[in-house]
Amino acid sequence: MTLITDVRLRRVLDSRGNPTVEADVRTESGGFGRAKAPSGASTGEYEAIELPVGGAIASARETAVPRLVGEVYAGNQRDVDAALRGADGTDDFSEIGANSAVAISMAAAKAAADVLGAPLFQHLGGTFRGDTFPVALGNVVGGGEHAADATHIQEFLSAPVGAPSVEEAVFANAAVHAAVADLLDERGVACGKGDEGAWAPSIDDSEAFEVVTEAIETVESEVGFEIRLGLDVAAAELYDEDEKVYRYGDEHRTRDEQIAYVADLVEEYDLVYVEDPLDEDDFAGFAELTDRVHDDTLVCGDDLFVTNTERLERGIEEGAGNSILIKPNQIGTLSETVDAVELAQHSGYEPVISHRSGETEDTTIAHLAVATDAPYIKTGAVGGERTAKLNELIRIEQNA
Ligand code: PGA
Ligand code: ZN
Repeated sequence: MTLITDVRLRRVLDSRGNPTVEADVRTESGGFGRAKAPSGASTGEYEAIELPVGGAIASARETAVPRLVGEVYAGNQRDVDAALRGADGTDDFSEIGANSAVAISMAAAKAAADVLGAPLFQHLGGTFRGDTFPVALGNVVGGGEHAADATHIQEFLSAPVGAPSVEEAVFANAAVHAAVADLLDERGVACGKGDEGAWAPSIDDSEAFEVVTEAIETVESEVGFEIRLGLDVAAAELYDEDEKVYRYGDEHRTRDEQIAYVADLVEEYDLVYVEDPLDEDDFAGFAELTDRVHDDTLVCGDDLFVTNTERLERGIEEGAGNSILIKPNQIGTLSETVDAVELAQHSGYEPVISHRSGETEDTTIAHLAVATDAPYIKTGAVGGERTAKLNELIRIEQNA
């Protein structure tokens, strides 16, 4: 029933106005799935390769589509993804592009779910998963590669860990986002938004901590449940490889100073989550920091692990971090994405399912988070391409 009969690829817009790949998959019995690839700006060096969209589409049409149409069942996700790997023939999807691969992989899953008449999370997770919901991490202030002339730390995240439901959590994050705007206004700081919808004020990181912690406290007292603070330092973007220092504008920190700085931030602001506190090659530094912080602080590897089981295995061996960011387009297929989630879960690492800075209205990651019982999802606080996922989570929670 789920034999693939047609795969179509086209160029569509992403949230930055850049082109991205959209895939449509059709099956024998009339199943249909459509998915779009997201795109990063602070991409990790070890990610699968996103090719220019025209080339990615042409190459996938030539080599991947013939291996799928009439050959593979969309319901057999591993077969779909093996066909994509086989068509590409490289480790990093540099032939057909991780953008084409991930769009086809996700569209096939949706087509299979359509045939079953089941929501995507149920098809991906099966009967015995999907009964816990992720805490939504909401990016409320940011800079780095996502906005010019803003904070050095890439993302200040609202983490409503005490929220009784997804719905309460996402509204709390939106309220923190709004409260930040009020506080910046009081301080006379005008600002726009970065790529993920977070405020991108021209203030230093220490002022951002003041504003965000005050906004969180205000909203916490209104909603009556615990909201904590998280960060994505995106330290690989701050790291100067030649000088071996982390650059924060005119200031810099050595590696040891960086570890001490982040450990102090964890202490001072009771951080529940710190992503990429160190460079993407510094497994030992991640391990050192993980040892220094409380057990309840997630030290998460994004550029460090790039959703790659081999890199995660090394991290597990070395005690680097205790959490992994999961982005399907970093590895290129849903099967390998789920492999990374499962390896994490079997190894005591918390998976955090994540959007990219360049996004679309695609909602696959909302379903993936529920399907895998992931404890967290990071998909912004406001903005249509972010609320697409957040609103889908609300619907899934309500069985709507
Ligand atoms: P990116 O940023 O999508 O630009 O890589 C998101 C992140 O670093 O988590
Ligand atoms: Zn990151």
